[in-house]
Amino acid sequence: MSASVDVAVVGCGIIGAAAAWRLSQRGLTVTCFDPAPGDGATHAAAGMLADVTEAEFGEDRLTALNVASARAWPDFAAELSSATGADLAFRRTGTLTVAYDSGDRQQLRRLLSLRRDLGLPIEEITVDDARGLEPLLGPRIAGATWTPDEHQVDPRRVHAALLAVLADLGVAVVRRRVTELQLTPSGTVNGVVDETGERHPAGSVLLAAGWASRELTGVPTRPVKGQLLRLDASGQPGFTLSRVVRGFVQARSVYLVPRADGEVVVGATSEEQPDDRQVTAGGTFAVLRDARALVPGIDELPVTELTARARPGSPDNLPLIGDSGIPGLVLATGHYRNGILLAPLTASVLAARYGAGTVPEWATAADPSRFAATVTGGPT
Ligand code: GLY
Repeated sequence: MSASVDVAVVGCGIIGAAAAWRLSQRGLTVTCFDPAPGDGATHAAAGMLADVTEAEFGEDRLTALNVASARAWPDFAAELSSATGADLAFRRTGTLTVAYDSGDRQQLRRLLSLRRDLGLPIEEITVDDARGLEPLLGPRIAGATWTPDEHQVDPRRVHAALLAVLADLGVAVVRRRVTELQLTPSGTVNGVVDETGERHPAGSVLLAAGWASRELTGVPTRPVKGQLLRLDASGQPGFTLSRVVRGFVQARSVYLVPRADGEVVVGATSEEQPDDRQVTAGGTFAVLRDARALVPGIDELPVTELTARARPGSPDNLPLIGDSGIPGLVLATGHYRNGILLAPLTASVLAARYGAGTVPEWATAADPSRFAATVTGGPT
């Protein structure tokens, strides 16, 4: 049995690692558990901090959280960079969203009006202006919107920096799977049991295991599989993409995220499938078909990686951040399409929760009590 810590964090992707950083900074003793830290959704994520261009109908409360976290990103990135010396590839490139055909333009305009009504910074621009911004756009573009303020970041770099800062702070990252929560006879969670059977007592357990959170506790998370490609535009002087380009191609959604080092992340499928990590011919074909409809020049680029991972979906697309309803068990999961974007906000909500014992009022949309009936101290 290991020595007791204040908080055992189960899952050390970007959410668990960011929370562990903030809790450790506040003087709590923290241990993280993950057999492969950062190898889940964090590994696949493109890193668009898309608080505007992922604002969807029926998701106003999620959009408010996304906007708050987008505002927190510059300070979060600056602090993490300065603590580690790491370049996180955090930059403001803006997002050009384009429509392929007239039906897609209708969809684009409906979303434009929703986003404007929410007070988000987005404007319609002409196809000529869109081509002025990104000359590599394909011949068949029917409409465009421009979102100048959106940023992007490289999630893998952020995660590596978080692991470095955790090591500096003396936070252990135990590379083992947690198989069980440890419960007192009265049903309070007071530690975890790992796959070797070792017990790790803790004052509190923070569950940040993405879609797999369900396996430990019945939390209503589910895997939503995404397939992405990574292309390499370095050394290809004819291929210049400066902004995130996303859009609709015959009602399907696709995005291209160009990094300063030449990497271009192209995604993604959204499949109600398990996290089998299988890249399929059909998934790759679908993403490439739609991406090359918008930016045909990707045809020439070497493929450096094909990735399949699952996002942690929740029943209402909102994350679950805060007390689970089981004493001793706190949740940070269900971040679905916005885990990278929501990492700073999640970490700050948890810092407040562990500091004053309460989640701030503005974060109540993420309060897990809405699913309290489904959460147990054991697997379902
Ligand atoms: N937010 C991008 C995705 O989920 O694919």
